[in-house]
Amino acid sequence: MSTDPSEIDRLREQLHHHNYRYYALDDPQIPDAEYDRLLRRLQDLETQHPELITPDSPSQRVGSPPLDAFTKVTHQLPMLSLGNAFSDQEVADFDQRIRELLDKVDDIEYACEPKLDGIAVSLLYEQGLLVLGATRGDGVSGEDITQNVKTIGSIPLKLSEKNYPDRLEVRGEIYMTKRGFERLNQTAAEKGEKTFVNPRNAAAGSLRQLDSRITATRSLEMCAYSVGVVAGGKLPQRHTDVLKQLSQWGFRINSEMQALTGVAACQDYYRQLSQKRNHLPYEIDGIVYKVNQLDLQDQLGFISRAPRWAVARKFPAQEEITQLLGIEFQVGRTGAVTPVARLKPVFVGGVTVSNATLHNEDEIRRLDVRVGDSVIIRRAGDVIPQIVSVIENRRPAGTKETVFPSQCPVCPSPIVQVPGEAVKRCSGGLICTAQIKEAIKHFASRKAMDIDGLGDKLVEQLVDKQLISRVLDLYHLEIDAVSALERMGKKSASNLLEAIDASKKTTLNRFIYSLGIREVGEATARNLAQHYGSLETLMTADHDSLLEVNDVGPVVAGFILDFFAQDNNRQLIAAMQAAGIHWPDSAVAQNAAPLVGLTYVLTGSLETLTRDQAKQQLQSLGASVTNSVSTKTDYLVAGPGAGAKLQKAQDLGIAIVDEEALIQLFKQQGTYQ
Ligand code: IVH
Repeated sequence: MSTDPSEIDRLREQLHHHNYRYYALDDPQIPDAEYDRLLRRLQDLETQHPELITPDSPSQRVGSPPLDAFTKVTHQLPMLSLGNAFSDQEVADFDQRIRELLDKVDDIEYACEPKLDGIAVSLLYEQGLLVLGATRGDGVSGEDITQNVKTIGSIPLKLSEKNYPDRLEVRGEIYMTKRGFERLNQTAAEKGEKTFVNPRNAAAGSLRQLDSRITATRSLEMCAYSVGVVAGGKLPQRHTDVLKQLSQWGFRINSEMQALTGVAACQDYYRQLSQKRNHLPYEIDGIVYKVNQLDLQDQLGFISRAPRWAVARKFPAQEEITQLLGIEFQVGRTGAVTPVARLKPVFVGGVTVSNATLHNEDEIRRLDVRVGDSVIIRRAGDVIPQIVSVIENRRPAGTKETVFPSQCPVCPSPIVQVPGEAVKRCSGGLICTAQIKEAIKHFASRKAMDIDGLGDKLVEQLVDKQLISRVLDLYHLEIDAVSALERMGKKSASNLLEAIDASKKTTLNRFIYSLGIREVGEATARNLAQHYGSLETLMTADHDSLLEVNDVGPVVAGFILDFFAQDNNRQLIAAMQAAGIHWPDSAVAQNAAPLVGLTYVLTGSLETLTRDQAKQQLQSLGASVTNSVSTKTDYLVAGPGAGAKLQKAQDLGIAIVDEEALIQLFKQQGTYQ
């Protein structure tokens, strides 16, 4: 196979550049997955043509030289990197290779650990005292960051027991928790300062502060995963035992670590952790498998930059590059205009993504994103895809700055901005067909009036054909007009009218929710219904009374008052009741409910019930179920993987129960199905 030597040169140039951005400047321009691909391509070409390998090829070394600002430290033992595996097959090959090298037919015991996505650090202890903290740098020499590491609570300044070696170098990862990252970015955004793209960058930026007082304000953690120099003392013979010993000396070690025998158990571990990944309070980007016996590690040794006895199984990338094809401005139910990015479809975080929200005008400005740009898309877990940044040096010529429209793209009313709000809104109100359509879709949706068969497309047709222009019109639709619509026969038209008719019998909380009052979601609607028992009482409630309702603060109280103060809304409600919409009085029923007045929060994963089932059963017993833990919370139901909410509940002294206790409660109350 012929290779173009200029491709090798180009790859090296690119990798050098990205190495520098990533390691030296903490400001990567491309996602890790793209970097890995470039490196793999170079490695493949070099394997085919070993004669073309040069000593300065990026495949021959890791990282970049340290910045000048900190003192340089040479590592007594180099800090190596890990080989990657991207599939079960590649992990199986790794295991096979090891067994061949060791001439072993039995299954190997592996230490399995999450691959933490942070910054590698070396900590040197002499006579039990921390004397040096250093970054990995290029693996051979790094930077002295002793003052900075001393500010990190999980790094012991002094080892806690006396049986330690005279000299001990502990290695591990410094990382920022997801919660710490969100808080840091929130504060930065409030102050109009630059935000970080991900927790890894935030950790790197925090560590690289010449003023360690700044580092001290950042929520960094350190987790130990290996040792370097050991002199004047002995350590256990298995890696997992070494880590347990480190834990006794005062280090944090990862609680997910397990010693497993055989490659099949390792593959299971990968799958379990993939499931757990989004519930962990910190970012991980894969699993590290290490041969657990240290004498076997010694036998296996190293090749160039990585040990033969370990491999990193990477998760599918959560960040990828794609192209921005266009920006559409969508008008929501309350008139909020949201810019939506149309993307060249890209596989990221396990799904194909072709849209991403751009949130608002500030976000467009912050990113300076333009149609035609190459952008980095991030999709983590079930979170909606985001544009993380624009790759500026890939911007094609002739792009134009993105301008937020001044007129609604649907009805041409002016777009306005309430001072202090990031959101811009169409001022058209009920003359804007986009707002009308969204309000009707919301009204008909499953958790509102639950009109079976009235989907988004049908609502759009009904409004476009001018058969309806407000929710009330639904209750006066005629069969002939409906059956004349596209893809509608007599039968489906009559089914639809029956469903509309059936929706007239509803509950107070559904009706309140369906009105689409700003910030009144399903949970708040339920709380309002429970608190007031009847619509009439709610409609006459004043500001102070509304504040007594669970989950209602001054802003929401204001929206509720505004809504009911408007004549057209009051008339609409009266007309809907006249059209036959009705609900049972809930005042009597709710007093009988045993959990009235109690607020629950669910966190972590549930194993027997689905989250929705748990929520509905709690609500059916009269409890409120909210999303965030506060002093108003009475119980936190915590399952495996619970993180920040559990911590907060513990801090606030809130009662914590598990799924089993919840099921017991449901059984006692006879609601368990
Ligand atoms: S062991 C010689 N264990 O991954 C083996 N590394 O590409 C040294 N990392 O720079 C690494 N979690 O910072 C090891 N549990 C873990 C790890 C881990 C994250 C990082 C480490 C290193 C990179 C290897």
